Formats: sequence, C-alpha cells, structure tokens
Amino acid sequence: MKREMVIVLDFGGQYNQLVARRVRESNVYCEIYSYKTSIEKLKAMAPKGIILTGGPNSCYGPGAPTYTDELFELGIPVLGLCYGAQLMQYILGGEVTKAQVPEYGKTEMIVDNDSLLFKDVSPKTICWMSHFDYISNTAPGFEITAHTVDCPVAAAEDRKKRLYALQFHPEVLHTPEGTKMISNFVHHVCCCSSEWTMDSFVESSICAIRDRIGDGKVLCALSGGVDSSVAAVLLSKAVGNQLTCVFVDHGLLRKNEGDEVEQVFGPAGHYKLNFVRVNAQERFYERLKGVEEPEKKRKIIGEEFIRVFEEEAKKVGAVDFLVQGTIYPDVVESGLGGESAVIKSHHNVGGLPDHVDFKEIIEPLRDLFKDEVRKAGLEMGIPEELVYRQPFPGPGLGIRVIGEVTAEKVKIVQEADAIYREEIADAGLDRDIGQYFAALTNMKSVGVMGDERTYDYAVALRAVNTVDFMTAEVAQIPWEVLQKVSSRIVNEVGHVNRVMYDVTSKPPGTIEFE
Ligand code: XMP
Repeated sequence: MKREMVIVLDFGGQYNQLVARRVRESNVYCEIYSYKTSIEKLKAMAPKGIILTGGPNSCYGPGAPTYTDELFELGIPVLGLCYGAQLMQYILGGEVTKAQVPEYGKTEMIVDNDSLLFKDVSPKTICWMSHFDYISNTAPGFEITAHTVDCPVAAAEDRKKRLYALQFHPEVLHTPEGTKMISNFVHHVCCCSSEWTMDSFVESSICAIRDRIGDGKVLCALSGGVDSSVAAVLLSKAVGNQLTCVFVDHGLLRKNEGDEVEQVFGPAGHYKLNFVRVNAQERFYERLKGVEEPEKKRKIIGEEFIRVFEEEAKKVGAVDFLVQGTIYPDVVESGLGGESAVIKSHHNVGGLPDHVDFKEIIEPLRDLFKDEVRKAGLEMGIPEELVYRQPFPGPGLGIRVIGEVTAEKVKIVQEADAIYREEIADAGLDRDIGQYFAALTNMKSVGVMGDERTYDYAVALRAVNTVDFMTAEVAQIPWEVLQKVSSRIVNEVGHVNRVMYDVTSKPPGTIEFE
C-alpha cells in the first residue's frame, strides 16, 4: 500500500523542519522539498496536501523564491504559512504590501468564521506573528477567516479549491493551538488517516529489511549514540546474528560509556547480534600526541576511526550491507541553497570506509526525525538512558579538551563531566536542557586549597538549548546547582582548581569549544 504523504515546500524559513514534525505528530507522513522542486516531480509523488513554509523574502521583490501557479490547480489542498501565505495570495491575484505595523511575537487573533482549519480552536486565540509584509487584499475567491488588531488578513481561504493561507506560524509552540490547526489541515482538509506511527514503522521496517537482506551479511559501526543504536537494534530484530556490530572505543568517550554500551549490546545484553568491542584508546592518544589544532584533531580522530573499523571489518570478511545511521534532517534539501549542508560537513567523522568489502548501504532511519528515532528505540525496548542520551560529537572528548589531548586530561574531563551530569539529573533538569557538558580549558591558574597554593586546570561548563543546533541559547541553570557542581568538581577531581560557566550563545560561540 502506498504511504499517504504531505509535502512541505521550503521557501527558506527557519521553521521548515518544525512544520514537517508537526504534521508527523498528527500521525501523517511528511517530507520537505526545496521550492526549486519541479511541479512534475511533485505531481509524481501524489501528495495528499502541500504546505508552503515561511521565508525571509518579500514575495514582490526581485528574485524572490516563487512557484508556478499550476500548483494551485492540481486539486491538491495547499496551506501557505507566512511567506507561503503571501506568495499564494500574490500569485493568485491578491495584494501583498509592506505593513504599516510589522508584527512580531505573540498576538491575539480573532477567528471570524467556521473554517475547517479552526475546528475546535478557541474564537480568540494566540498566534505567533513574524512579518513585515502583509496581505492587504485577498485574491479572488478567498474569504478572510481570522484577523488581529494590526493584521486584517491573519487567515484566508478558498474553501472550494481547498487553498488556505495563514499569516502566522502555527508550527511554533508560541501558537498554542497551532498543532491543532495543522492537524485539522491534514485530517479534515486533506483527509489523511493517522497511519504514521512508530509501532507501525518498526513493524513494516523489520519486514522490509528482512526482504531486502535475505540471508546476506550486515556490518554496522555502533557508536552507542541514539541513531546507530536504534539502527542496530532494528537490524538485529530483522536479521538476528547475520548482523555484526563493531564498537570502536577511541578513549574519548564519557566516563563508563564504553562499558555501558557493551552491557546493552554485548553478550550479556539481550540482543542477538555479534558484538565486537575494539579497545583502541592507546592508538588514538598516540596519534593525537602534540596536536593542538581543532580541525587537525577532528581529522586524525576521523581517519583513525575508519582505519580501526576497516581492520576489524577485514576480520569479519566480505559483507553484503553496511548500516548507516543517517536520519531525515541529514537528507533534507535546503530551500535557499544548502547553507546548512556546508556547516554540517565537518561533523561527519571519517565518512565512509574505503576498504570495507560491502555491496550496498542500508539506512533504516532515513525517513525519521530525531524524536521519532527515540520513539522507535523505546518501542523496541532500548533502555531510556540510551534513547535520551544527549548529542555527543563523533570526535568525543577530543574536541572538549582544548589543545593537546592526553590520557590524563581526558580522565579529568570525564570525571568533571560525570559530576555535572549527575547533578543535572538530580536537579531534574536532564530532559530540559538540549546539550550540556564539561570541557577542559587548556588554562592553568593559581588557587588555594587548604593552606597550599595550587596551580591547576580550569574546567568550563556549558549548557545550551537549541532547536536545530545552528543557533543555541545558554540554558539558565539555577545558581545553587552550578555552585554544587563547581564545589564537587574542585573537591573530587584532581588537578582542577577553578570552574567556569560559559554564557555565550551560538552565534557568536559554537556549542562545542573546538
Ligand atoms: P557546534 O560546536 O558546531 O555543534 O555548534 C553543533 C552540534 O554538532 C555537534 N558537533 C559535532 N558532531 N562531529 C560530530 O559528530 C563533530 O566534529 C562535531 N562538532 C560539533 C555538537 O556536539 C552539537 O550537537
């Protein structure tokens, strides 16, 4: 059976992935495509509905992203959001002009009639506005369905043609009833059923993987991160011990992490897979000796990782499939020319191994967002600590020890980080903060302990909240928690006499220190 799908056409808005996630949270499958995607390709995919995202441009400006008017004649429901709404009106003969009063932030909206989009939505509701242009005249056939004090057309629709325009952003949480509106669109306008759920994903993936692999052999590089763990378990459920997982411990993992991964996936765990742990710590420390430059460290760690993996793979012999933990945000086309792709390229540690003998790549999580990967993991009984593990970079503590990496420095940062994580969990904050960790600055400073002068390292604590990892806000951790972490680190971890909290957002900082 063909999967029902809604397509999000990306016009460069910062919330494009959120739009798709909201659709999926309504249990309808959704994919994002650039506005440059041809109408033929769109038609061939036969979506049940199309959503046009926001974007930074003025639709009447020179070179602004646009789309052919045929889009509105396909008989497929279309929902335009912010820029998408203005573009729809502009293309269909409405008027878009610079607003006298640009709106930004939470705004009260009054619903004017019984639009399907506003089914079960309060007559007065809050919406998140962010626009300097506005729809001054709707296109022929459209009726206004909601307004605000400064915006006469907060929502409009051509009910017959099933075209809907919302000037605000229903996809962000600042529009409290926005998810309901998106769900109304996909269910009541597009008539999608709610078939996209993680238990059905797991079940159908297992079948599909089994079919594809037959009695072939599969190799997986398991890092212990969420994506590779969920991919490995999905594969093991499908093909059992035809799967071999190689876990390279590069000595740059967090405290006890190597053992924890082994406990879950190794012989004592309950998955039927061949698990190989390679303890390559010394090799990595050796290669990192004297290297201070962050990109050089990344490159060395990436290369060494591939080398170790290849050596191990050779022992397994020729395999038919290599598993990759690629997830949907890694494959999304970007609306305005792939800026995000460039920033991310350095995050791919090592890339693909050249000397592993495999025929095909299998990417079982290619269709999933991170939160869906987590749900699939829980569905398959992977422990919560692993499923909710915070993001951890491939080069690991190698980029959290500033300057040269040594076994001693890694140990210091491991101990400090473990204390930090313990206290954050104790304070009940571990699920609220996007990413938090300790890093070892390369700075030594003078302190006093007991009656003695000390000259030791400073540890830096970082905690940020982020939606897309492109920007991040500093998390406001309660002072008492920070104080407790700080005194514990100084008291319990040797060679540390100072703890600092990093209050830089991204930009201008990055999340990691290197
Ligand atoms: P930055 O430091 O670029 O981090 O603001 C954004 C996100 O990416 C992670 N990160 C990496 N992940 N290899 C990875 O696999 C890397 O080299 C790398 N550098 C940063 C970082 O942890 C954060 O989640």
